[in-house]
Amino acid sequence: MQSWIPFIPDAASTLSWKVDALYFYLCGVTIFFTLLISIVLVFFVIRYRRRTPYEIPRPIAGSHRLETLWTIIPFLIAMTLFAWGARIYFEEYSPPQNAIEIYVVGKQWMWKIQHSTGQREINELHIPLGRKVKLIMTSEDAIHDFFVPAFRMKADVVPGRYTTEWFEATKPGTYHLFCAEYCGMNHSGMIGSVIVMEPREFDNWLSGNAGNQTPAVAGQQLYQSLGCVSCHGPNGEGGRGPTLAGLFGRPTQLNNGQTVKADEAYIRESIINPQAKLVAGFGPIMPTFQGQVSEDQLVQLLAFIKSLQIANPQPATMASSPAAATNTAPAKTTPAPNVK
Ligand code: CUA
Repeated sequence: MQSWIPFIPDAASTLSWKVDALYFYLCGVTIFFTLLISIVLVFFVIRYRRRTPYEIPRPIAGSHRLETLWTIIPFLIAMTLFAWGARIYFEEYSPPQNAIEIYVVGKQWMWKIQHSTGQREINELHIPLGRKVKLIMTSEDAIHDFFVPAFRMKADVVPGRYTTEWFEATKPGTYHLFCAEYCGMNHSGMIGSVIVMEPREFDNWLSGNAGNQTPAVAGQQLYQSLGCVSCHGPNGEGGRGPTLAGLFGRPTQLNNGQTVKADEAYIRESIINPQAKLVAGFGPIMPTFQGQVSEDQLVQLLAFIKSLQIANPQPATMASSPAAATNTAPAKTTPAPNVK
C-alpha cells in the first residue's frame, strides 16, 4: 500500500493502514473540493464576464436554499473526519492489557530502553512481530517525542511524567526511530532504529542478551538498599507506610477524602514528593527521594511495585517473575487487578 506513492513511509503496524486510510480520505476530500472550486470559479469567470463597459449586474438577494446546502454538506464532511479521526485516536492511545511492557527513558540526546526481562538497549529497540508492545516512557531532561513513522505512532516523552504508546508490528525489518520534539542542540541526532523480528528470532535475541537484571529485580534491590522496606513491607510489615502488594492500578483513598488511581504517575510522585497525596490513615513521615533516585531507578522501583501486583493469587496468569516469587503471600482479599 505504500511504495508507489512518494514520501509515504513503510507501513509496518496494525495501525498504519488505518491512519493511511484516513489520510488518503482527507487528501481525496481536499483534492475533490480544490478541483470543484477551481473549475466552477473559472467557469463563472467566463460565463458571467462583463460584456459591455457599462453593464450593471442584476442585484441578487441571496438564496436560503443554497446557503443551507453549502453549510450542511461541509459540516457533514467535517464530522466524518472528526468521528473517524477520534476513533483511531482512541485506539492509538488506549494501550491493550496484554501488551509486552518496555521502559523508555529519553535524555539529551539518546533513547535508553529496557525490556521487562532486563535487556538494555540504546537507540535501538528490538520487538517481536505480531505481538502488542507497550512503551512506558519518561525523560531525564527536556521534552522528547518517540516517533516511529512506519508504525504511524508518536507520543511526547515528558520529564516528571509517564506517557505510553503501543503498537503491533506486522512486517519484519528495521525502521526509523526519531525524536519528534525539538530538545536542544543535537535533537536531529536523537535517532535510532526499531528492529522487528520473527518471534523465534526475538526470543533468541533476548536470551543472547541476558545477563542484565530485570527492572523488577533491580527495583527490589533498591527498595531494600534505600530502606523502603522498614516502613513499607510488601504485605504491610513495618506498618508506617501503606502496603505495596496489589497497590498498582487500584484506587487509593487519600487523607483528604479523595480517591486516586495508583498508576505510574502516582507512584512516581509518591516517591519524589511523598507529601503530595497522603494515603488515608498515614502521617506525613516519609522523606523525599528527590535527587537520590534517577529516572532509571524510578522505573525499576515502579517495575518492582508492579510485580507485587502480579504476585496476587490469580488463576491462570503468566509465570511470576523472580521478584514476584518472593511475595506470593496473598496481600488482601480484594479481588485483584484488571483495573487498568
Ligand atoms: Cu529529543 Cu528532540
